[in-house]
Amino acid sequence: MTNSEFLELAEKTARNSYSRYSGFRVGAVLATDGGRIFTGCNVENSSFSLTNCAERTAVFKAVSEGVTQFTKIAVVGSSDGDFSKPCRPCGACLQVLSEFCGDDFKIVLSDGEYSLKDFMPMRFELE
Ligand code: THU
Repeated sequence: MTNSEFLELAEKTARNSYSRYSGFRVGAVLATDGGRIFTGCNVENSSFSLTNCAERTAVFKAVSEGVTQFTKIAVVGSSDGDFSKPCRPCGACLQVLSEFCGDDFKIVLSDGEYSLKDFMPMRFELE
């Protein structure tokens, strides 16, 4: 799949976003080493802090199915249906991704392709 196809699928996934409080729809598409794909959207809650971001939804779906090796993620977000402005992953999602992904894990946004290292050059590690 090309990056534009990934972004297209992320937009489609954003339609499932449960974002009645912010109105901001986010979709993510996570690609695994083995060529599988896991999608995710943001899922909000009336107790705001329980909201789960699209990226973490995708990661948790994959990990809960036994998959922990990832190559790339595409992310889009919008409050008005125009997904052309880049939606960058938040710090919490970057930290969760960095649990499983190395520096050259790819992050595909509407304005181009980045690596995890671009966003997290010095990430937290437990040891
Ligand atoms: N959101 C994501 O889904 N991913 C991010 O990386 C940042 C923010 C969601 C959370 C919330 O539902 C909405 O965007 C507004 O913050």
